[in-house]
Amino acid sequence: MAKPKRRYVCTECGSVSARWQGQCGECQEWNTLVEDAPETKFAAKHDLSAGGRAIVFEPLNAPSEPLVRRTTGLAEFDRALGGGIVPGSAILMGGEPGIGKSTLLLQAAAAIARGGNSAVYVSGEEATAQVRLRASRLGLADAPIRLAAATSVRDILTTLSREQPPALLIIDSIQTMHSDMIEGAPGTVSQVRASAFELIRYAKESGVALVLVGHVTKDGTIAGPRVMEHMVDVVMSFEGERSHQYRILRALKNRFGAVDEIGVFSMEGHGLAEVDNPSTLFLSGRDEPLAGSAVFPALEGTRPVLVEVQALIVRLQSGATPRRAVVGWDNGRLAMLLAVLEARCGLNFSSAEVYLNVAGGYRLTDPAADLAVAAALVSALADKPLPLRSILFGEVSLAGEIRPVAHSALRLREAAKLGFDQAVGPEEGGSSSAKLRFFGLKSLPGLVDRVIGSA
Ligand code: TYD
Ligand code: MG
Repeated sequence: MAKPKRRYVCTECGSVSARWQGQCGECQEWNTLVEDAPETKFAAKHDLSAGGRAIVFEPLNAPSEPLVRRTTGLAEFDRALGGGIVPGSAILMGGEPGIGKSTLLLQAAAAIARGGNSAVYVSGEEATAQVRLRASRLGLADAPIRLAAATSVRDILTTLSREQPPALLIIDSIQTMHSDMIEGAPGTVSQVRASAFELIRYAKESGVALVLVGHVTKDGTIAGPRVMEHMVDVVMSFEGERSHQYRILRALKNRFGAVDEIGVFSMEGHGLAEVDNPSTLFLSGRDEPLAGSAVFPALEGTRPVLVEVQALIVRLQSGATPRRAVVGWDNGRLAMLLAVLEARCGLNFSSAEVYLNVAGGYRLTDPAADLAVAAALVSALADKPLPLRSILFGEVSLAGEIRPVAHSALRLREAAKLGFDQAVGPEEGGSSSAKLRFFGLKSLPGLVDRVIGSA
């Protein structure tokens, strides 16, 4: 028999190549090719006479069972999931190593177990003694969680299929699991995929809510989680800066609910504490005005969160290529905003290094942040601070217009509640109230006038 050919799969875009390369030929990402199991040959054509079973078509409006959700007792976790865990669903919990995935899931499992439902926690990374030690540090040592250290998918499923299926099954992490249905070391794309497939099938068949932990590096490249996003019902991302206290749990995909609510936690000495009013977490609370700093009223689902955006501009003397570095916002969006400020407002950033940071390890995804980022950039460039206790919001178009955004009233209300007394936003995006003056702007040059003329 001919030796099966090796093949390499890109963990980023999934393209297959016959040789290993440092850079993927398809998506141009670096170091994303990993060896995968050889391709299995399928018969080119189905033999239709062999008699498949008939499938049954149903009308779209046929009556169906209402969706049940099981609340875990961790309100922030339930909120991010869209109201709780759906039995029989598969959840992928992605996040950087050390961010707190195991801690969060141990707490969720404990809450479920204490509520009288059975929770199984299988760790492939830590010995049971280690997990037990963490549990006692978290004050959960008495929770009736069923704990095991195992990495063989066959062993795990054989054991579980002999008993009453648990309400919750946690696999920590999918990169350590090994399926003997397929060759290859744990953590390779094909192993991750095969192990996940078997576990998900078990979850669907037995109505178990399954959580698969998947480590992802900052740029999302490490083998694994990406390639299984389509296999699971819910993709969660646990985010934050390890050096900061706050963590955000976000759904990136949810077949059973909306993806706009977040859960906010704070990492304490005794585990993750829920933060039920996060609106001021990401403000620095400074009372001196500072050039380059602007406050943006972000909206996470239905909750407003005020976030400080900081910009730093460093003029370069030499002709070196200036650096642009962003933490907490989109790189491409910063490039766009700089281009619009240059083209529409005549500002010059081309010979300057631009650094942008969102305070507190928060990641901004709301397009309404454009105006606050632009204000931070202009303020840093002109070295003129924005007025204290002012907020900015609005989307900026390529033509330099300031576009209206969703939920302006909610943003203004929260800012007023927190003692902000000035807001700048899209024209017709709001109105002044007793506590807060609103300034509507049509276009970006208007913002530049305000910022430069305001000090
Ligand atoms: P962990 O849940 O092990 O992260 P992950 O599973 O995502 O790799 O959390 C690791 C970090 O959390 C660890 O560096 C220490 C911190 N931590 C606390 O600050 N307080 C605690 O009570 C616990 C359990 C962990
Ligand atoms: Mg862990």
